[in-house]
Amino acid sequence: TSAPLATIASLSAHEGRTVTLRGWLYNLRASGKLLFPIFRDGTGTIQGIVPKAAVSEEVFNTLKELTLESSLTVTGKVRADSRAPSGYELDVESIEVLQRVPEDTPFPISLKEHGVDFLMEHRHLWLRTPRQSAILRVRATIMRAAAEYFDTNSFIRTDPPILTPNACEGTSELFEMDYFDDDKAYLTQSGQLYIEATALALGKVYSFGPTFRAEKSKTRRHLTEFWMIEPEVAFLELDGLLNLAEAFITHIVTRVLESHRADLKVIGKDIAKLEAVIAPDSPEAPRNEALILSAAKDPEDAEPGTAVQNLSGATAQTSAGTPNRFPRLSYDEAHAMLEKAFAEGKLEAPHKYGDDFGSPDETYISSQFSKPVMIHRYPAAFKAFYMQPDPLDPTKALCVDVLAPEGYGEIIGGSQRIHDYDLLKSRIEQHDLPLAAFQWYLDLRKYGSVPHAGFGMGIERAVAWICGLDHVRETIPFARTLNRIYP
Ligand code: 4AD
Ligand code: MG
Repeated sequence: TSAPLATIASLSAHEGRTVTLRGWLYNLRASGKLLFPIFRDGTGTIQGIVPKAAVSEEVFNTLKELTLESSLTVTGKVRADSRAPSGYELDVESIEVLQRVPEDTPFPISLKEHGVDFLMEHRHLWLRTPRQSAILRVRATIMRAAAEYFDTNSFIRTDPPILTPNACEGTSELFEMDYFDDDKAYLTQSGQLYIEATALALGKVYSFGPTFRAEKSKTRRHLTEFWMIEPEVAFLELDGLLNLAEAFITHIVTRVLESHRADLKVIGKDIAKLEAVIAPDSPEAPRNEALILSAAKDPEDAEPGTAVQNLSGATAQTSAGTPNRFPRLSYDEAHAMLEKAFAEGKLEAPHKYGDDFGSPDETYISSQFSKPVMIHRYPAAFKAFYMQPDPLDPTKALCVDVLAPEGYGEIIGGSQRIHDYDLLKSRIEQHDLPLAAFQWYLDLRKYGSVPHAGFGMGIERAVAWICGLDHVRETIPFARTLNRIYP
């Protein structure tokens, strides 16, 4: 036919005209002399209407017997219909089947409920269903917005190696491989150490790529292969790092809300919860004044306009240009909050001072706020070797974990880095890390060392939170976990 090719997402430009779509048969319902096929083409779905009297017998019979997920081209007239989810329906005129799914091996994913193992075993096909497709579209926007934030704020993208001679985040979760002759290599856990080097060369840098951790526990939050985006900035200190994280997250959520309201609806996310994250600060907005005040008195929270803050260039603003602050709590303040909650019977187990927060602790803290919570200054004892100690209390590290709202837990981890040669060397030794493999990293403290800071955000954690997913396995096209590497 001579009808123009169109995509389902662009049908509004073709209303009243005959177009050809290329895609797949997503669903088919028959009612007497009427067929209601639903077509999908990757950009969306549209219902067709096929009255027996309106098409040739051949077209009617072909469609009537067509198996789900058969590939096809369909030509029809685009008709606006306010009841249709997409706003349009297609009056089918003709159809051409490209490949018919055999009758005896029907498409395995039906509209009925399937178990998770079955779905993961068929992930290559599960991806075609509307909810999974919507998640991947939102993921793509989150990745684009994340990179865009740094690209448009003068950060230089410098991607680190994937094969490395050393550990960044502890040695227990390393994937090890032979690297010719007698050498060992490890899959990178984080690009941080390398972008510290590029930050001292270029000022403001970021990396974005796959990272790997041999996580031996099964949780809803851990993958063995995940994507991390990491900024690193010379002369940036902890307070500026918190501002940067705030501005970065605000930008990502703003972009998702700009173009994915329909997708979020398909996924089942409460959009109001995301709107609250980027709502401008206002006196009426519910927030914990005591915590905001304590953060403002914080000595690291320097007055605005210092050289350090200007270098980060970050202040979180909503699209309307109004300021957007996330609550900031020190580890001690967060602990006090948990103690109080336990005393009031709102938490099942007490939090032990000095320990990391468990999932129920993080869930409780984040449920107290509608915006992400930034917890800073954790005990250095259970944090990474490279974190700068707090000058006011060296048992604490100048670090931050950003907890997503709604109990999604940590999405960002970051810190100011140790910039003193001797201190860093002693930390490497205390952590039993091989000095030789870290000599290049120590060099950075020998040749013009400066305070610097950065963070990493796991894309899948961000997708899980923004889409409201129970488990990270749905946040990435093909999840890699402890017990799955197929398909
Ligand atoms: O907190 P982490 O371990 O921090 C680092 O790797 C730093 N070197 C980053 C930096 O400062 N440049 O990991 C950072 C983030 C976490 O907050 C989380 O979002 C994600 O990476 N992440 C994981 N995501 C999925 N599966 C896992 N197993 C993850 N481990 C960490
Ligand atoms: Mg962390």
